[in-house]
Amino acid sequence: MLREVTDSGLVGRGGAAFPTGRKWAAVAAQAGRPKYVVCNADESEPGTFKDRVLMEEDPFALIEAMTIAGTTVGAELGFLYLRGEYPLARARLTAALAEARARGLLGDDVMGKGARFDIELRLGAGAYICGEETALFASIEGFRGEPRTKPPFPVEAGLFGRPTVVNNVETLVNVLGIVADGAAAYRALGTAGSPGTRLFCVSGNVARPGLYELPFGVTLRALLDLAGADDPAAVLLGGAAGTFVGAADLELPLTFEDTRAAGATLGSGVVLVLDRTVALGPVLARIAQFFRDESCGQCVPCRVGTVRQEELITRLARGAPRGAVADERALLAELGQCMRDASICGLGQTASSAIESAVARLKVFADEVTP
Ligand SMILES: Cc1cc2nc3c(=O)[nH]c(=O)nc-3n(C[C@H](O)[C@H](O)[C@H](O)COP(=O)(O)O)c2cc1C
Ligand code: SF4
Repeated sequence: MLREVTDSGLVGRGGAAFPTGRKWAAVAAQAGRPKYVVCNADESEPGTFKDRVLMEEDPFALIEAMTIAGTTVGAELGFLYLRGEYPLARARLTAALAEARARGLLGDDVMGKGARFDIELRLGAGAYICGEETALFASIEGFRGEPRTKPPFPVEAGLFGRPTVVNNVETLVNVLGIVADGAAAYRALGTAGSPGTRLFCVSGNVARPGLYELPFGVTLRALLDLAGADDPAAVLLGGAAGTFVGAADLELPLTFEDTRAAGATLGSGVVLVLDRTVALGPVLARIAQFFRDESCGQCVPCRVGTVRQEELITRLARGAPRGAVADERALLAELGQCMRDASICGLGQTASSAIESAVARLKVFADEVTP
C-alpha cells in the first residue's frame, strides 16, 4: 500500500503540495505508539468547496481512505476535523460512520482482518487558521487554535505530540483509485510532477460555475472554456492565499510545477474569475480585511502586518494614498516581504501574495493619484 501511494506520486491537495507517500512513510517508520491520522476537512480557504462535495456525495469514500491510511502507517485512531458550517456533510458523515461501525468496517477488527481503526468527528468553529495543520491539532486537543512552530513536523510530533499523518479530503480520496488500479494507472493521467486529476472550484463571472475534475496539465484556457468565461480579465488561483493571473496567462498549464514556475499557485483548487466590470481595488481590500480578521495574532509580523496592509489597500482602493502611490506600493512590498520572511505560519506568509500578484501582474494601483 505504502509503495503504491509513494510510486503514484500523489501530491497533497490542501495547499502546501507535499508528497503524500513521503508523509505516510515517515509516520510508518516511527516506532512509538499511538500514532494518528487526521483528515483536514476544515476547507476554510475562501472559494473552496471541493471537499464539501466529496463528503456530501460519498462519505464512505473518505472513511475508507482514512482507514487505509491508518492501517498503512500503524494508527488505530483517526480524527476527521470538519468545517463547522457544513451541516449536510456532518449529517452524512455521522450516519456513514455509524453504518461503517455497525458493519465491522471500523472498530476493533476491521473487516475481520484483525486491524483496529476508528474515526472521531470534530467540528471547527469558523476560524480560518484552524485549517493550518498544527492549529488544527491544538483545536482538537482543546486549546486555542494557534499554529505551532515547525520543526518538529507532524510526522514526528503532531496530534497530542504523537506521529501524525494529516491529509486533505481530496488527497485521501485519491488513494482509493491508487489502491484499486495501481500507481501506474494513476500516473497515466496528469504530468510527471503532478500525476492524476485535480478538482477545480470555479466561480465568479462564468456561465457554468461548479466543480470540475480534469487531468493536471490542462490549460487555464481549456478550463475556463468549459466553465464559460467570456472575459476573464483577472483569475484568482488558489484562493485568498493564492495568486492572481490575467488574460495573458490563459495558456498556463494547471500543474504544481508550471504554476510554481510562473510565480503562481494552484493552492486549494480555487479558480475565481473576474471580468472587466469588476473593480479590483475593493476585491483586494476585502482580501486584506480577511487576513486581518483571521490572523491569530500570535506573531508580530502577521498581527501588525495584516492590519497595516489592510489600511494601505483601503487607502489605495479609495483613491486616497498617503503621499505618492509609488511610495505606497513600495511600502506594500516591504510589508509583504516582512510577513513572508518572519511569520510563524502559512497565513502570514501568504497574506500578501494575492494582493502583490494583482499589483505586479494586473497593474492594479499603477496610476498616480493626486493625494
Ligand atoms: C492558514 C491556513 C489554512 C489552511 N487551511 C486548510 C484547509 O482548510 N484544508 C486543508 O486541507 N489544508 C489547509 N491548510 C494546509 C494544511 O496546513 C496542511 O498542509 C494540509 O492539511 C496537509 O494535507 P495534504 O498534504 O493532503 O495537502 C491550511 C494552511 C494554512 C497555513
Ligand atoms: S503567521 Fe499569523 S496566523 Fe500564523 S501564527 Fe503568526 S499571527 Fe498566527
